[in-house]
Amino acid sequence: MSTILDEILDSRLQELRQSGRYKHALELMSPQGPQVRMNERDTVMLSSNNYLGLADDQRVRNAAKIAIDQYGQGTASVRFICGTMSCHLDLEETICRFIGCEAALTYISCWDANVGLIPTLACTPEDAIFSDALNHASIIDAIRLSKAQRNIFKHRDLAELESMLKASAAKIKLIITDGVFSMEGDIADLPALKELANKYQAILMVDESHATGVLGAHGRGTAEHFGVLGEGTIQTSTLGKALGGACGGYVAASRVVCDYLIQNSRPHLFSNALPPAVCGGAKAAIEVLMAEPQRLETLRRNTQYFRKKISAIGLKVLEGITPIAPVMVGDAALANQFQKKLFEQGIYVSGFGYPVVPKGEARLRCQICATHTSQQLDQAVEAFSRVGSELGLI
Ligand SMILES: Cc1ncc(COP(=O)(O)O)c(C=O)c1O
Repeated sequence: MSTILDEILDSRLQELRQSGRYKHALELMSPQGPQVRMNERDTVMLSSNNYLGLADDQRVRNAAKIAIDQYGQGTASVRFICGTMSCHLDLEETICRFIGCEAALTYISCWDANVGLIPTLACTPEDAIFSDALNHASIIDAIRLSKAQRNIFKHRDLAELESMLKASAAKIKLIITDGVFSMEGDIADLPALKELANKYQAILMVDESHATGVLGAHGRGTAEHFGVLGEGTIQTSTLGKALGGACGGYVAASRVVCDYLIQNSRPHLFSNALPPAVCGGAKAAIEVLMAEPQRLETLRRNTQYFRKKISAIGLKVLEGITPIAPVMVGDAALANQFQKKLFEQGIYVSGFGYPVVPKGEARLRCQICATHTSQQLDQAVEAFSRVGSELGLI
């Protein structure tokens, strides 16, 4: 029996279908990797965040199994009641060693870390948030939960940010940026942001989800990339991308900030802690990265190789150095068609259109991993070339 709610929702779904914005998830039938089995097809994977190839690393798998054997499936509690296990403390200590921060606090996801941090730090109408327009959806939602004044500056527009900071008399001023922007693949100008933060006594918070395990000589992210490590920014990041690809996120900051979150951050207080298997696996992934920084070199080599080849065939790629290489298509329906045809040729890459990106800026977001072989990348470029010609984009 269909209710009035079903009818309303169904008509909205119908609109999505008609405008070509209805999303269909394909079935992944293998572990995540450079080559996967998807919908019964062997496919080169060009859309995962598995930048260092650690999602299916044997050492990560083993560590997750050991943690299950030691601690079981889960905490059956939030952290402060009886859910802080040794594996959480071990992981947080490992994050501190890796990032070089004073303290770290894990959350069930980076989404939760952002929602747990932002409205907790900037919480009253006397506080103010300054956020880049292209920050991740979790930051946007976190800001919606805060009672602070909201200032959204145009993407990477530091002049606009400065004029907003200058005009603000807020008590706590929180500047928020992604380190690497997830849809563009470009990098925040951290040294300049830091300078502005210092000049206007603001706090700088950087979401490093696409930068951790990607940028910097040791994969410590945007600050290491620019040589400004340890300069007092607050970081959030995910354990669900380069660092093993499971789930989980963290805040890396001063001891005082983390202690304050432990007392006041709502997802920390009212939602279960990370499962032990994730703690064990993520810790092992960070240790592999610390022991094998050469993975970052391979990631950079693969990224350069792919970016050069895909540009050479005449497609428009947003320039940059990160492994997020968006191939611009323009029209959302065309992006869908492109994605479908690539998949028929054994390449999976996800297309994004409005409202995820602005109207007319639909794209295929290619993501390169350290574990891609040059043959796999060549195969992808050849498929792009064939489909791009067929669709009149080359
Ligand atoms: C910049 C950024 N922040 C936060 C998140 C959310 O991360 P998680 O999957 O750990 O919730 C993502 C994931 O796509 C992201 O790209």
